[in-house]
Amino acid sequence: MGFSRRTRAGERESAEDTGVNPSANATIGDVIAARFARRDLLKGALGVTAIAATAGTMAWLRADPAVAQAASRFAFSELAAGADPDHHVAQGYAADVLIRWGDPVLADAPAFDPRRQSAAAQKMQFGYNNDFLGYFPMPGAANPSRHGLLVVNHEYTNEELMFPGLGRQDLKEVGFAGMTEQLVGVEMAAHGGSVIEVRRGEDRWSVVVDSRYARRIDLDTPMQIDGPAAGHARMRTAADPSGRRVRGMINNCAGGVTPWGTWLTCEENINYYFSGTMAQTAAEFRNHQRLRIPANGYAWGRYHDRFDIGKVPNEANRFGWVVEIDPFDPAAMPRKRTALGRFKHEGAAGIINSDGRYVIFSGDDERFEYVYRFVTRARVDLTNPRANRDILDDGTLAVARYNTDGTLDWLALVHGEGPLTPANGFASQADVVIEARRAADLLGATKMDRPEDIEASTATRKVYVVLTNNNRRTAQQVDAANPRADNNFGHIIEMIPPDGDNAAARYTWNILVRCGDPAVAAVGATFNPQTSRDGWFGMPDNLAFDHQGRLWIATDGNSAGRTGRTDGLWAMETEGAARATSKHFYRVPVGAEMCGPVFTPDDETLFVAVQHPGEAGAAGPDAGAATYENPATRWPDFHPDMPPRPSVVAITRRGGGRIAS
Ligand code: FEO
Ligand code: CA
Ligand code: CA
Repeated sequence: MGFSRRTRAGERESAEDTGVNPSANATIGDVIAARFARRDLLKGALGVTAIAATAGTMAWLRADPAVAQAASRFAFSELAAGADPDHHVAQGYAADVLIRWGDPVLADAPAFDPRRQSAAAQKMQFGYNNDFLGYFPMPGAANPSRHGLLVVNHEYTNEELMFPGLGRQDLKEVGFAGMTEQLVGVEMAAHGGSVIEVRRGEDRWSVVVDSRYARRIDLDTPMQIDGPAAGHARMRTAADPSGRRVRGMINNCAGGVTPWGTWLTCEENINYYFSGTMAQTAAEFRNHQRLRIPANGYAWGRYHDRFDIGKVPNEANRFGWVVEIDPFDPAAMPRKRTALGRFKHEGAAGIINSDGRYVIFSGDDERFEYVYRFVTRARVDLTNPRANRDILDDGTLAVARYNTDGTLDWLALVHGEGPLTPANGFASQADVVIEARRAADLLGATKMDRPEDIEASTATRKVYVVLTNNNRRTAQQVDAANPRADNNFGHIIEMIPPDGDNAAARYTWNILVRCGDPAVAAVGATFNPQTSRDGWFGMPDNLAFDHQGRLWIATDGNSAGRTGRTDGLWAMETEGAARATSKHFYRVPVGAEMCGPVFTPDDETLFVAVQHPGEAGAAGPDAGAATYENPATRWPDFHPDMPPRPSVVAITRRGGGRIAS
């Protein structure tokens, strides 16, 4: 979710930024400080040869882009970092808009008219704020990298940019005064997901009209609840006495693509959608408080009782899950896989373990929340995709504890083990998964700096965890030995399984890079000195590996005011002498965040999602008070009557060939 949306209404700002984790567990800042004494940091104990604090400003200013070019396996001329109303890609590449908010997904969708938008139209059109992208080659296609399905998450809505004459509604003094039932209906229809069939022609990619696979998923789509929480009393409502059927999914951020051909889409900041009040003595009060429900970010509860926790206290338990969808069957009911736990799931990328079991990693994206892992009980059957249909219902959920000796323990969230007993309010595994955060508190998991995407390299089996930032440590959480007590720009942790066993109970860990401007010594960034002035970034968010095993990093939160650059995509070396060398490849228009990077199997196309272009920046200078009438950019149409539109972009190399090769 966009940085600025997180910090909208003043009353919500402090709670969101400090987090709600009440446990006394160690923070990753404490652990890093204890593991790496400052002296060792300066000697390069983090796996890089030098850091900015020793290199100094002048060394960085002298950094020669030609040197980075020579060291990098990524063959492209680096893009200049900057901030302006358009998007930009490295020289020699084309970046074509594939589909925009409001474009048809279903064949009978009406033409997009932002001044007369309706829920009925939006239900057939491409939704708002595209985030995760997954590519599925079309079975039997002549070239599987030129014909496939693209699945897209629609994470959230910006009413101030979507609706004429409305302005920001979530500010305390506004209180959603302008949000009619009709506008709320459009918002609910603009959430969820899209499945589109895409094809690469002579010239460029296009969406196949009248595709039999085309699908829009929104807040009315019936979904099945599976796994340990299915049917439990805490999952039942008056509208669903079975506790097994829920309408829709919300705030779907990142996700994953399974080896058996399904789309995993992750419910993240669900707390924003709930409002109302609940007695402190109510059964779900403690549970909801641990997820900061309600956070009153939308007016949905005014028109739909299920989003009012005072009226339907259990509805919130039916969100916050990983949802599995078969993209090739538009009639297939999406499944909420409760075995993977309930929290603010950023993503659900996975890897087939050396023994054949599937291992999924998922960050809980809030300050001081945790990193989780799920290992299936069954082995993946690649010869028969249907055999894997329900393997995500049975397995072991675990949470990470990073130790100061460089090891990392995966602590299992299993009912009856350790503190997860009736005495602590866990009567069954259903209670454990519904209250995964509280269970993880009791196990002693390490509190992280907003875990975003986590991706495993199939080449090395190392796992990379993005911690986007944490600028709200309190004085008690600052340690004099920790040069980055105030982690404003984020960092990336590398987790190393023993002998390639991603299901092992104990890993080791290291830091790949601390982000931010290496020219400012106080920032303490640790990019490889061969990184150019365009090559560094702050606030990493999404990760992608190409099919050559190389890491690409998308960001959320850079701006002219904060880092002198918009968000975008950077190519990052992870091994050898060039480790932590980063190169800038693509950047988004002002106000936007970079999401969803995914490569076709031949690495000739890179799809990216440009989310919330024109949104007001966190620090303001990019956009000021961005509205429908006065957005920071009108990308991609640049038409005076058209607002900015979140869009998917297809990046290809001019003249053909693999990207960055
Ligand atoms: Fe939706 Fe964690 O970003
Ligand atoms: Ca984000
Ligand atoms: Ca994200």
